[in-house]
Amino acid sequence: MNLKDCHNFSDFRILAKKKLPSPIFHYIDGAADDEITYNRNTSAFNDVDLVPNVLRGVENVDLSTTIFGKKIDLPFYCSPTALQRLFHYDGERAVGKAAQKFNTMFGVSALATVSVEEISSLIDTPKMFQFYFHKDRGLNDSCLERAKAANFDVMALTVDTITGGNRERDLRTGFTSPPKLTISSLFSFATKPMWGINYLTKGKFELPHLQDFVKEGTSTNSSIGNYFSTMLDQSMNWNDAEKLCSKWGGHFALKGIMSVEDAKKAVDIGCTGIMVSNHGGRQLDGSRSPFDQLAEIVDAVGDKIDVICEGGFQRGTHMLKALSLGAKACAGGRLYLYALAAAGQAGVERALGQYKAELERDMKLMGCTKISDLNRNNLRFRYT
Ligand code: LAC
Repeated sequence: MNLKDCHNFSDFRILAKKKLPSPIFHYIDGAADDEITYNRNTSAFNDVDLVPNVLRGVENVDLSTTIFGKKIDLPFYCSPTALQRLFHYDGERAVGKAAQKFNTMFGVSALATVSVEEISSLIDTPKMFQFYFHKDRGLNDSCLERAKAANFDVMALTVDTITGGNRERDLRTGFTSPPKLTISSLFSFATKPMWGINYLTKGKFELPHLQDFVKEGTSTNSSIGNYFSTMLDQSMNWNDAEKLCSKWGGHFALKGIMSVEDAKKAVDIGCTGIMVSNHGGRQLDGSRSPFDQLAEIVDAVGDKIDVICEGGFQRGTHMLKALSLGAKACAGGRLYLYALAAAGQAGVERALGQYKAELERDMKLMGCTKISDLNRNNLRFRYT
């Protein structure tokens, strides 16, 4: 199987599995506990059907939307995700450049393997920095200052990783950052020699936002679950979020909001957006899916801040459904990560291009020419 054989999300996933040592593949592919939420994040879209209209003159479709005051050409963007150079040696460089080609937003994690300064010099598409509230206040200040100096447009505080999710696939494979060879992973690393050669020859694996402050994950091996549980500050509360928001002084979002109550508080503390998200099912298994929670959150705060639906998207039609419910944009990690692993920048471009083509086609079939044409009249819920 090659890149040209990848026509959808599942194809990219299969190719990624071929390319990556299994601990790394399962780090992307896995989620918490029984992975019920992870699966539900996508299957939720199938509980709703689209009701198209016809005869509306749909030769020109405009997919653009405005989030955080920035117009982007697509109603979806690349969520920040950690450790991208483990998936492909170009890592965040590849994803950022692909996002720029499509003029959509690109999220950079505090756990990124390429620095905000380098990303900023490479791309001028709108950028979001994903902040984790560490115990180490020096690290927190440094992240904020560096992202600001690098002209990042949005700061997103992660609020759903107060402790590590129980990712049993990572426990079984022994996945850590930096990756370490264990007896059980040895075979899988040996069967993917190209990955190993690239890892060893294409520049040192680094976590540039963290390494001056913490050893865990940078020079001492740590699982991501363990990193969250030990390095992040579990006392984080609304006061801290409010202070960070005013310290940042620009567009500020909470990533991982699931309740109406919290969405309203986000408005109260000055946020300009929220990501309705359960961290790709990687944290609290049994949590409701973002799509299932979207309508009530949009009804409560959608006229005040940007509500973004994050997670589970595998098709243009999934995005149409979330946009019809009132999401300002859709976002995802695995959405582009398998494609990154499959073929670097070319892979991500192909994946983003396919979602764009799907959306254009599906908008036409729905009788819509712009995102604001989509609304709840387009949808029927099977179970109400
Ligand atoms: C994860 C973090 C790092 O889910 O976002 O693994």
